[in-house]
Amino acid sequence: MSVAVPILRTAEEVRTTVDEWRRSGRTIGFVPTMGALHEGHLSLISKAFDHADSVIVSIFVNPVQFCPDEDFESYPRTIRDDINKLEYAGADAVFIPEKDLVYPEGFSTSVHVSNLTDTLCGKQRPGHFDGVATVCAILFGIVQPDIAVFGRKDAQQLAVIKRMILDLRFDIRIIGADIYRERDGLAMSSRNRYLRPAERMQATALYRGLSRAAELACKGERDTALLCQTARRIIEESPLAVIQYLEIVDQETMKPVESLDAPGLLAVAVHFGKTRLIDNIVIDPGANYKED
Ligand code: PAF
Repeated sequence: MSVAVPILRTAEEVRTTVDEWRRSGRTIGFVPTMGALHEGHLSLISKAFDHADSVIVSIFVNPVQFCPDEDFESYPRTIRDDINKLEYAGADAVFIPEKDLVYPEGFSTSVHVSNLTDTLCGKQRPGHFDGVATVCAILFGIVQPDIAVFGRKDAQQLAVIKRMILDLRFDIRIIGADIYRERDGLAMSSRNRYLRPAERMQATALYRGLSRAAELACKGERDTALLCQTARRIIEESPLAVIQYLEIVDQETMKPVESLDAPGLLAVAVHFGKTRLIDNIVIDPGANYKED
């Protein structure tokens, strides 16, 4: 049976709740989200429970991480459904701040993590990671968790947050959670609901392309240009797919690599109509390839 999840609206309510948990000897896990929750988010919550006693989730559609031509206005807001899912997942509290609480009048700070943000999504979405780093720094300051969980689907975001934690000396352990996929391989995303039926069907090409490249790498192929070409060819067999980027990068620096002497990250962004999807796979030349 699921129990009603307390809804916290102010920083004070969050502090009181978290302090109470801590006084009773509990460790605190945090999962920041923008809502429109799906099973992928629930897997982040379950991961947080592997590492902490109490888990708080935030829901905030962060305006400053959207570029001007992006979907901030139309981003799905499904709060009632989200709360039901959080109850089902056993979250201990949900923090749903208003915009003015996060960005009060006079707010003038922006967190910029350099180096990691000039490739992949950082190059395509100028200012996006500043918005992500800024809101996460604010939320971390309010919640003050022991651990926070981020999905590996947003691999560059995970790298940016890990760097920010180190640089700003936040005492928080960042935990990456594996990509949660639909049965046909499509990585779960709040934006999948935008896909029209034909786009949804063709979107499975992303994982097919990534998996084939990973398989070739496991069989000994080290040439990243050839691996990218293979993945690209498979994705482009779907006529509705328009690739924005497809690159193999170093997992920590997010910089392109030419030859795979160590595991790399094959990352892709593809448009299907108005919907932009991202996905990635770790390409490990030393690993045994295993179909999911
Ligand atoms: O991954 C997301 O949903 C967002 O970028 C995050 C981390 C909640 C910040 O708004």
